[in-house]
Amino acid sequence: MSHWGPYSLHDKSAVVTGGAMGIGLGIVKRLAEAGANVLIADLDYECALRETKDVVAGGGKVACMALDVTAADAGAQIVAAMVENFGGVDILVNNAGIYPQVPMLNMEPGVFDKVIQINLKSLAFISKAVGQKMVDQGRGGKIVNIASIDGLHPSMIGLAAYDASKGGVVMFTKNFALEMGQYGVNVNAIAPGGINTPGTAAPLAGSGMTQEQMDAMMDAFKARIPMGRMGEPDDIGKVAAFLASSGADYMTGEIVVVDGGMLQS
Ligand SMILES: NC(=O)c1ccc[n+]([C@@H]2O[C@H](COP(=O)([O-])OP(=O)(O)OC[C@H]3O[C@@H](n4cnc5c(N)ncnc54)[C@H](O)[C@@H]3O)[C@@H](O)[C@H]2O)c1
Repeated sequence: MSHWGPYSLHDKSAVVTGGAMGIGLGIVKRLAEAGANVLIADLDYECALRETKDVVAGGGKVACMALDVTAADAGAQIVAAMVENFGGVDILVNNAGIYPQVPMLNMEPGVFDKVIQINLKSLAFISKAVGQKMVDQGRGGKIVNIASIDGLHPSMIGLAAYDASKGGVVMFTKNFALEMGQYGVNVNAIAPGGINTPGTAAPLAGSGMTQEQMDAMMDAFKARIPMGRMGEPDDIGKVAAFLASSGADYMTGEIVVVDGGMLQS
């Protein structure tokens, strides 16, 4: 993959949590194209296998494992699987996340806990385990966290728990970057805007809204995006591949907004 130049991930090994579909899958495809070995760690093992069949058939080096990121030993499981499959780990993409839309006045503590646990606490402790492995290997590394524009600015009612979790991801990224710089490990985040994924389609499909109401809501959302369209998983995949590469060697603690300009409007 020499045509990727400084962005080549040849000889690098990456893990992407929640990589079976949506944004994570978009990231997996670009990392594999850039030459990386990629492990998908996802609840939905069958989906991960199915969705990456073409990548593997085309010569991409992709492995899959069933993993719940909230497991107490999730980080240790990832490190063990990376060593077993690829001999080590150079790139961690913390992508797994959920975004149930529940107004705070209706919020149950268990739902709030689950959002924080998946989106923030698991991300932090997987970063700890993989970060420690990167330190032990002594060859640096790249950590890319998937935050959200909602970690910087609230987009709609019903996402208070989600926005709190993603605001936490933003500040975790900045502080962990301080700690990991001395080891040559870059820690950055991407803040996506509205991206077409199975997750964003699901609540709409189950919302009980008519097609006209759904179209009107999407039109109103899109009207706030200067580039005039929703993002696609590949829009995030390309930026993640850059942050995982030597192209981003002197960037750390950064939050890269990829939202078609929405936060500017
Ligand atoms: N889609 C958007 O508009 C958007 C915008 C901003 C940020 N994000 C963030 O991007 C990330 C991916 O979002 P998406 O829209 O692609 O989601 P999605 O629901 O389409 O896919 C999420 C993937 O994560 C996996 N997953 C969920 N919980 C898991 C767990 N506990 N352990 C392991 N895997 C788990 C799912 O199986 C699935 O494969 C999330 O962190 C989300 O908050 C999405």
